[in-house]
Amino acid sequence: MKSLTNSRFSWPALLTENAAGIAFGGDYNPDQWPEDVWAQDIELMKRAGVNVVALGIFSWDRIQPTEDTWNFAWLDRIIAQLGDAGIAVDLATSTASAPMWLYKKYPQVLPVDKYGHTVHAGSRQSWRPTSKVFREFALEMCRQLALRYGNNPTVTSWHVGNEYGWNNRHDYSEDAAQAFTTWCENKYGTIDALNEAWGTSFWSQEVRSFDEVQLPYHMGADSMVNPSQQLDFERFGNDMLLDFYRAERDAIQSICPDKPCTTNFMISTDQCSMDYQQWAAEVDFVSNDHYFHEGESHLDELTCSDALVAALAQGKPWYVMEHSTSAVQWKPLNARKRNGELLRDSLAHVAIGADAINFFQWRQSRFGAEAFHSAMVPHAGEDSKLFRGVCELGSSLKTLSDAGLQGSTLKPSDTAILFSAASEWATRCETLPSKKLSHWHDVLAWYRGFEDAGARADVVPLANDWSDYSTVILPTVLVLSDSDTERLATFAKNGGRVIIGYATGLIDENFHIGLGGYPGAGNGLLRDMLGVRGEEFNILGDEDQAIKLSNGAQSVLWQNDISVRDDVDVLATYTGEAADDWELNNIPAFTRARYGKGTAYFVGCDLDRAAIANYLGEVLQTESVTTTNLLHTVRESENAVFDFYFARAETDLALVCLPQDAQVLIISSAQKSSDTDNSYALNRNGILITKRGR
Ligand code: GLA
Ligand code: GLA
Repeated sequence: MKSLTNSRFSWPALLTENAAGIAFGGDYNPDQWPEDVWAQDIELMKRAGVNVVALGIFSWDRIQPTEDTWNFAWLDRIIAQLGDAGIAVDLATSTASAPMWLYKKYPQVLPVDKYGHTVHAGSRQSWRPTSKVFREFALEMCRQLALRYGNNPTVTSWHVGNEYGWNNRHDYSEDAAQAFTTWCENKYGTIDALNEAWGTSFWSQEVRSFDEVQLPYHMGADSMVNPSQQLDFERFGNDMLLDFYRAERDAIQSICPDKPCTTNFMISTDQCSMDYQQWAAEVDFVSNDHYFHEGESHLDELTCSDALVAALAQGKPWYVMEHSTSAVQWKPLNARKRNGELLRDSLAHVAIGADAINFFQWRQSRFGAEAFHSAMVPHAGEDSKLFRGVCELGSSLKTLSDAGLQGSTLKPSDTAILFSAASEWATRCETLPSKKLSHWHDVLAWYRGFEDAGARADVVPLANDWSDYSTVILPTVLVLSDSDTERLATFAKNGGRVIIGYATGLIDENFHIGLGGYPGAGNGLLRDMLGVRGEEFNILGDEDQAIKLSNGAQSVLWQNDISVRDDVDVLATYTGEAADDWELNNIPAFTRARYGKGTAYFVGCDLDRAAIANYLGEVLQTESVTTTNLLHTVRESENAVFDFYFARAETDLALVCLPQDAQVLIISSAQKSSDTDNSYALNRNGILITKRGR
């Protein structure tokens, strides 16, 4: 992979002797507790090996109790105590939640939902990203904190905001409406260009001036928003929040230029709040919040999400800002983690390039909305399985730090699954042939298919440079611009292998359909590459109606009814009773075409992960199918190679045969299975981490 550089990159120091090591800690909310608990907190942090905390994320009301008063004394005291204990502080701007006095006095900062209802104060992010009044208060807070703590040696990084967009991603306020008008004017220049892009000749939506442009408000039950406008509204919201982040970051760095700033992203395979590819260029180090998905996809979902985070970090280490030691409290049913999963999840993040493992939160709250959310110190106190698990994790991270892991880089795969925020937003649109379409779902299916086939794929933003990979896969990349299609064609011409999924390249960046047959991206360029032409989609969705393929796979959601050019190889067709019933018999499902020095594959229907693994094994001849229940990643430093092995399956043992010079650093839920050949068996949640020379 091409090594890309983020010119901003700067990693936060620890208070260790050489300022280095793997960071370990959590969100710390001492303002929820009497001060006599603080000393105990710090004693327990030291016992667990905690070396950093994210402080003051929701403390605005404590720091600025009224419009004209500031109270830093408590923050001074806790920062001093943490510093004395050698615990670094990632100091928050505290601006995610404003104090009640601010909302009461300036209700014009409150966001408005699509129905026109005010979003009231009392939760988080109850503010308009476009409010000038709110921005001034927030920036003043940033400046005050930077002035007071910018030179404080215990504060080694800045935590700007918190999960931007969690509650104010879609704001329909007056301020937003005005800002949207300006945003559209900047983007389109002329009203004709906007009318053209939004296709406003449909349903009498034409606008004569930018004053007539409106937000995609609720327009009545079953009303269907113009999808081009909706996609722009997503981009607009992203841009407004990014602009807000930049302003807060700059307010701090104008006073304290030498300490790195981050903000915690929310990347997991069911979320796409922001176009984080843009955000990654604006943070000094990438940090992410990830909450586990219980069930059999637990580990794969985690590493798939992390693969995108790692790509955003562009080969640099990144930071797990939040995850949970066990259950959360915000799902209908909140499963706990099983024995070993606290350690396994944390070390799996490390295996995908994280050099910092933090949790929400240090001490479990006694009150408030998150009292039943797990933490590092549970309600039961230090004499608990959970706190012992936290201590075990701290000591494992120390072992890895001492072995020189920190700063080593994740070895890239030769395959990139391309992820596009615009496509994820577009697949959520309500007017597609199927509401079951999901870009993330299909990215995860391909990612898991690779792991099942004993290989590993990276997950890379479409907007990145992926030209040094040997294979790129586009699962349901619904949105493909002409220029992205041209990049794909150049990549294939130069010898690359491109795999195009069933719902890729159907629309351009304005949500316009490419004509002349599907997929129409690039004015027919994508069809030329593939040598296929689709006239209709066959939309199903029911397992009972599944359409069989000649290679044994089946499709339940979507089949493209295509014809192929003479020179195209047909690798599988639809067959059987259901295919007959839907007039798909013998229609090509999988195809392959030469294109320049490379190859373009088309996968014309949805597939489950087993079928994808099979496809990869048969068609692409991936390495093997014998290691399907093992996850293996590699991190490399100048003089060492670190191998990470995890058991993926719940029941079958995963077997690893280690190279002779591998030194075992961490072993959990695993045992040596043979003395003669250095092989190990990993049980459920098993972990093996080793080090060898380069
Ligand atoms: C988010 C927030 C945290 C906390 C956790 C709970 O990630 O940033 O403050 O609310 O969710 O899971
Ligand atoms: C209604 C409307 C048409 C069109 C169709 C689509 O009948 O009158 O304009 O929207 O639904 O099914």
